[in-house]
Amino acid sequence: MRRPVGEPERRRRHFGIIRPVKVEIIEPHGLCAGVNAAIAKALRLRNVYCLHELVHNEIVVDELKGLGYRFVDRIEDVPDGETVVFSAHGVAPGVRDYAAEHGMKVVDTTCPFVAKVHRAARDFAKRGLSVAVIGDQDHVEVKGILGEIPEGMLLKETGAGDGGRPRIGVVAQTTMNADDVARQVDRLKERYEVEAMAEVCRATKERQDAVRGFCARCSAEDGPYAVLVLGSRTSANSRRLAEVAAEGGARAFMAGTMDELRAVDFSGVVRLGVTSGASTPERFFVEAVRHLRNVPQHVAIIMDGNGRWATQRGKRRGEGHVAGAKTLGDVLKWCGDRGIKYLTVYAFSTENWKRPKEEVDGLMKLFARMLKSKERDFFRNKVRFRMIGRRGDLSEKLLGVVESLEAKTAHFDRQFIVAIAYGGRAEIVDAVNAAIERGEKLTEETFRGYLYAPDVPDPDLVVRTSGELRTSNFLLWESAYSEYYFTDTLWPDFSERELDAALESYAARHRRKGGV
Ligand code: FPP
Repeated sequence: MRRPVGEPERRRRHFGIIRPVKVEIIEPHGLCAGVNAAIAKALRLRNVYCLHELVHNEIVVDELKGLGYRFVDRIEDVPDGETVVFSAHGVAPGVRDYAAEHGMKVVDTTCPFVAKVHRAARDFAKRGLSVAVIGDQDHVEVKGILGEIPEGMLLKETGAGDGGRPRIGVVAQTTMNADDVARQVDRLKERYEVEAMAEVCRATKERQDAVRGFCARCSAEDGPYAVLVLGSRTSANSRRLAEVAAEGGARAFMAGTMDELRAVDFSGVVRLGVTSGASTPERFFVEAVRHLRNVPQHVAIIMDGNGRWATQRGKRRGEGHVAGAKTLGDVLKWCGDRGIKYLTVYAFSTENWKRPKEEVDGLMKLFARMLKSKERDFFRNKVRFRMIGRRGDLSEKLLGVVESLEAKTAHFDRQFIVAIAYGGRAEIVDAVNAAIERGEKLTEETFRGYLYAPDVPDPDLVVRTSGELRTSNFLLWESAYSEYYFTDTLWPDFSERELDAALESYAARHRRKGGV
């Protein structure tokens, strides 16, 4: 369905910025295998020198600086005997020789595809061919390739044929615009017999083709469309993506950090494709898309309706909880896909102890079983598990499972928080008692420090399933400014589409938090 170009601003303006109406992820995007391997290798090292930026991305470079990396532009600036990392863009042979002569320990992260171009340039020169290099002569990758070619064999003037059609070798910077390279090779073929190893790297080409595809799918009739390239301006392949987008008739934006993204003015854009360069970390991409779509950072869910779901199907209530646990596994994944950083679910309230013993025992067993079975998923998806609630009320066995999983996953960023034996009033009373024990007079800020998970930001959105319009003692303190979304769907039937409906409803709201 076509959206009206002049969509009411109320729906598009959140937190003071104008967002594009439709945000689409362009696939494939982001890290290529070569950069991924370079970063993985580099992250294992501490306090080393790195010749040039490992990759052209400030987020990656800042992270490495945090690990004690010192970045230098000349090999002569690395003290003798030190460890030096060669960046993914590769180095000239003279640099390798210098490092060896000065007893340096070399960690080479040169992209295998760049290494292939070096080999081709070397082979052409060895066979006596003049070599032409297509690329940006100031880029470190090109400087490295040039180092493979003896000065006299470098073809600088493409018009310099010797009457016949001399044979030349052609290599190209791996991150060029594929079409430009093809055009330049064709031009060289008018004067020379060309042997070319001048393809841009496959990942770079695929990302450029995907941007072309997005532009081709957008029609100017649908309204102004744009492409946002997430990547640093120093990144050649990211800049090329923006060029390809502009050639495809799109407005092209670039942002290398969240601050840069917040400064982008998307006024008038109705359809935005988002891509990222081959050196842009995926975590930045996810965070950026979450921001553009106004996806909440923290979603909390009251998973209600398992019992009714089971009864409607003539099943035992326990079967409803098992079905609910399966839904929860899916929801955790869907939330991760959408860049939601915190998911808190209400699994068992302080009031639920009043349920029949058989149901309570069944639930506790289900929690332990599900948590154990999810351990591998938590690691694969880098999810930190936490529990909030009265730990003393859990059986030793369940508490053991909970605390072991909490310890094992404590280093992960994304969080999955399960409220068991939890009550909002109980949490407040526990906090007050802890403060009284320490003789502390509370303010709103210091009170927060006594909550079960004080470092977790308040939920932006609370979802409740099964048609009940109550908060039922869930996150009473934390949800003071949360948006609520109620649905009649029973929890086991909660679907990806329903989650998106909740997120869309949230995205359309203007949260003033008491302001104007
Ligand atoms: C409320 O539905 C649901 C519960 C009390 C249990 C929720 C638990 C799960 C979904 C399993 C999750 C597992 C882990 C490890 C967190 P209800 O029984 O009150 O439904 P009704 O209102 O229809 O009776």
